[in-house]
Order: sequence, then C-alpha cells, then structure tokens
Amino acid sequence: MSPPPSGGPVFDRGATPHRGVTLTPDPSPLSFVLAPRGQEAVDLSVELVPERPTKPDLRGMPFGSVFTDHMLSVQWTLAQGWEPPQITPFRNLSLHPACSGLQYAIQLYEGLKAYRGADGRLRLFRPLLNMDRMVRSAERACLPVFDQAELLECIRRLVELESEWVTESDPASLYIRPTFIGTETFLGLRRPTRALLYVVLSPGLGTYFSTGAPGSDLALWAEPKYIRAWRGGTGDVKMGGNYGGSLAPQCEALERGCQQLLWLYGDDQQITEAGTMNIFLHWTNENGVEELATPPLDGLILPGVTRQSILELAREWGVCQVTERVLTMAELLQGLQDGRVTELFGCGTASQLCPVGRNIPTIFRCG
Ligand SMILES: Cc1ncc(COP(=O)(O)O)c(C=O)c1O
Repeated sequence: MSPPPSGGPVFDRGATPHRGVTLTPDPSPLSFVLAPRGQEAVDLSVELVPERPTKPDLRGMPFGSVFTDHMLSVQWTLAQGWEPPQITPFRNLSLHPACSGLQYAIQLYEGLKAYRGADGRLRLFRPLLNMDRMVRSAERACLPVFDQAELLECIRRLVELESEWVTESDPASLYIRPTFIGTETFLGLRRPTRALLYVVLSPGLGTYFSTGAPGSDLALWAEPKYIRAWRGGTGDVKMGGNYGGSLAPQCEALERGCQQLLWLYGDDQQITEAGTMNIFLHWTNENGVEELATPPLDGLILPGVTRQSILELAREWGVCQVTERVLTMAELLQGLQDGRVTELFGCGTASQLCPVGRNIPTIFRCG
C-alpha cells in the first residue's frame, strides 16, 4: 500500500477497492460536523480517562468481551439536529425505559476492524463501505442519516486514541462497533425524534467462534423451518432485530453440535447465508466449469464487505469463473455426491474466512 498523504486518512473509493484507510497521527485540531454539509462545523470534544487502567491480557478472551477506555457518542434530535460529537471515557448509557431502541428495536449497528500492519501503522479495512451500509440501515430504520466522511473522521480519532490496544501481532485487531438507536421517549411507534449514535471498540486476539476457529472447519445446521430474511424485509441491512430473531435457531444449531445455521430460503431451499456470514462455494459446477459462486444481493442477504472484497479479488485474479447466483441445497448436495465441491466457506469481518467441514451433517437433513 502506498503511504498516505501526511496528516490525514486515505479514503480509497475507486481503483484499488480492497485498500483501507491508513491512520496517521494528526497533530492539528480537527473540526467536523455530523450533519449535512454546509452547516457550521463543530469540534469533537475529547474527555480522557484520568488514568489509563491496566490492560487485561487478551489471550484466551472471547471475541467482543473487552472494551477500550473511551467511546464516541453523538446525540441527535429532530429539533436541533446533530449535537457536537464527544469522545468520553467508556461508560454505561442512561436510557428512558420506553425508548424506541429498546421497545421496537429501532436500532442498527456496524462492524469493522482496524489492523496494525508490519510497518506499525493502523489501518481500517474499507470503512467507507461500512459507513455506506450504515446509512442504508439508518434509512430503513427511520433513523436520521449523517455525513459518512464526518463519522469516519470521528471514528478515526477514537481509534487513534486507542491505538495502543492493538499490538503488532498477526491475529490482533480492533473491532469497531458503531451503534445507532432511537431514543424516543414515547410508547407509540413513530419515526424517532431523538437518537443516539455511539461507537465502542473491542480489541481482540481471538476468533469469533469459540469452536471452529479460522483455519479449522465449521459445522453448519441447515434447517428449512427457520428463515433469516425475506424479500421486502430487513435482511439486507444491519438492524439488531435480524440477529435477535436468529438466536433460537442458532441455539438449536449449537445443541446439535454445529456452530451456525445454514440459512435457506424458499421451496427450492436456496442457500443464503451461514449464520452471520456470507457464504461462498468453490466447485466444479454442473457444466464442468471451475466456479467461485455466492448468492446474489437480492434483498435476502447482507451485502458483506468481506464478500465484496473476495469477489473483487477473485475477479482480479481471474483463476476461475466468479459468479453471484442462486445456489440451492439440491445443487450443493449433488456437487458433494459427485465430489465436485472443493470448498464451502463463510466470511465476515468478525469471523474472517471459515471453511465449512466436509462432513456437513445437516446438509443431509435437508436432502
Ligand atoms: C448476516 C450477516 N451476513 C454477512 C456478514 C458479513 O459482513 P461483513 O463482511 O461486512 O462483516 C455479516 C457481518 O456482520 C452479517 O451479520
């Protein structure tokens, strides 16, 4: 990766889409606004912890169980618009019990990561894609939209402040969790007039799955009685309700010795996602062509940043046919039976790339 211009992040939008944003120390006070451009800019206020607590040993800590010392928060009201963003010591929220984020799941989140490269620099992986998806989720959730570059700049400052949490080791990363909730204090269901956007950071060395770590195979439970998403629903955005609703099937998968659900859709049992991951099939297809295939963005699946990156890289490499198309259980089962399947794998920011075990017990359940 080429070095960034001094003093600022590199926003990679085009030619080399797999690049991230490089975080460089910025000594100048920054000014920005979380509002439509043209409004008066406001400064990010930063309140530091009086003293940095001793950092826990991250070895063996499960994904998402440790948080850094500071967080970012921005309040919004219909009357006043976006308030100045604040970085403060990490703290609990105080919410009205009737708040619409809690009552009606008027809520969304994002997940992206910062990594430290061999050159010692921290990089965010393709964060503009997450900002873009977050805006689409906000529109679907009736939450206000925001300036993506401005939010990213706030996140960049937070990550910079917490950069010492990410060590120079291969598995180390900083998981960034922007969250956006309706804070309407009213029991009726209506478009929120108050909202809170906040960002917390979770450092980790570990993997998302307590079993089935990257590099080891994952078992999937394919159970057609459960449906994750449907056309016209919210499966293509990152609203929390999608995940709460998937927990009981996920628990059933665990009881059956599998880590995740293989989500199916429709009478033809279309393969859509693997738990909270997009799914890829590398095989020799029915026509004898080597193919890397993944389900299309037809409203049923989340448009994953990792999925997009894999597609772009695979197309760039040009070693096999790369396809976004409907894949059914029948096709997969036939491929397995014929010995044409080279690999089935899930992918996502938190889970990275997870190969699915050859002995997929549940695939036979649906056959
Ligand atoms: C349902 C679902 N699919 C796919 C993904 C992968 O998306 P990404 O690669 O952007 O992390 C996620 C990750 O959060 C997810 O929740």
